[in-house]
Amino acid sequence: MTEWHKSDWRAKPRVQMPDYTDAAKLASVESRLATYPPLVFAGEARRLKSHLAKVSRGEAFLLQGGDCAEAFGQFSADNIRDTFKVMLQMAMVLTYGAKVPVVKVGRMAGQFAKPRSAPTEVIGGQELPSYRGDIINGFDFSAAARVPDPDRMLQAYLQAAATLNLLRAFSTGGYADVRKVHAWTLGFTGAPEAEKYRDMANRISDTIDFMEAAGIRDEASHALETVEFYTSHEALLLEYEEALTRVDSTTGQWLAGSGHMIWIGDRTRQPDGAHVEYCRGVQNPIGLKCGPSMTSGHLKALMAKLNPRNEAGRLTLIARFGAGSVQEHLPRLTKAVAEEGANVVWVCDPMHGNTIKSSSGYKTRPFESVLREVREFFAVHNAEGTIPGGVHFEMTGQDVTECTGGVRAVTDEDLSDRYHTACDPRLNASQSLELAFLVAEELSQRRHLLQTARAV
Ligand code: PEP
Ligand code: CO
Repeated sequence: MTEWHKSDWRAKPRVQMPDYTDAAKLASVESRLATYPPLVFAGEARRLKSHLAKVSRGEAFLLQGGDCAEAFGQFSADNIRDTFKVMLQMAMVLTYGAKVPVVKVGRMAGQFAKPRSAPTEVIGGQELPSYRGDIINGFDFSAAARVPDPDRMLQAYLQAAATLNLLRAFSTGGYADVRKVHAWTLGFTGAPEAEKYRDMANRISDTIDFMEAAGIRDEASHALETVEFYTSHEALLLEYEEALTRVDSTTGQWLAGSGHMIWIGDRTRQPDGAHVEYCRGVQNPIGLKCGPSMTSGHLKALMAKLNPRNEAGRLTLIARFGAGSVQEHLPRLTKAVAEEGANVVWVCDPMHGNTIKSSSGYKTRPFESVLREVREFFAVHNAEGTIPGGVHFEMTGQDVTECTGGVRAVTDEDLSDRYHTACDPRLNASQSLELAFLVAEELSQRRHLLQTARAV
């Protein structure tokens, strides 16, 4: 066992975490949570890590997506099902285009705590602490709601447990059977990407019919009837993370029991800070957001801390630079990785570098910028000879109007119609699927490029 202990982060400088005023209440919540069952099992985290190791070698592709912030008020079976369904559809499109397995990881069942760009918010002359996610304080703009309340951790745990339970049921209980590829139709009809999807679904059904007729289906049956679906969130609220940290009895190693994969945000990645200290000690796959301010020196220091044994699948670097900036920032980091001979997964988050304020006052993301950043990400990897391993989206299965653009063009004026996010604007179901087709195209072009290169 390592020297590390789950409480060691407490001795390090922390940012973006609440100052709880009621220490006794906090301690009592922490000790209750510490007796609750972990949400995930170490074997699952190790299995995800082995899938991510394949991603790091270009043998699989990662699709990570879900809410910016899960919210207590939006907790429902329909919401969970719809996001799960769109992710399955996207994964199908990607598998079909890339001809490699797609590793599916939700920003779900734990994505409750949010880093903020400012500690306070001013509305109509009144200044209050910022909203930091439902696990910390309330969204309502009132002094009472914005006080951090430790009890919220218990509610977040229960919501995460129930969400994970439903996801597990959907994954293995028949809902995710590939033969339902048609049944996962979206609420929209007639849109070009819905047509494309149906077309692909027809070809998949034909292939399955062929396999059945030829008697090859039996062996493949299990793989077609179930999916593996993993959960992830930003490990921001370390009191919550620590309380769910357990020693895995089979290996003696520590496990973050709050979700399969956890990541470190762009604002909390100080190499000597509390968040890196916590994440370095648990065996789960770790994500690391890489924004424009990350230097090659920071990245090298972080790789040394977070993955000292250079284990493939352990570390996923989530690039989020903004459209038009990928060429400026990504190559120095891919070079740092090459210089260290490090095993990493490279993922594109085209959301967090593309947030703007619309003319109607809403925080939004133009779909065109999201697309552009994805294209730039692929272009840099193709030029550098490195591997574009996956994508990371803020998305929902709901028909929201939070990001502008897409084939069913959401305009600035439309944003007020169905703007439901508790934090950042998400892609709706139609925009998510459209993006999946674009990524599939990039992957299939890349596959052909590589095949041609090999043939020469
Ligand atoms: C997020 O993923 O919601 C987030 C806050 O990202 P970042 O740390 O990259 O800004
Ligand atoms: Co976000």
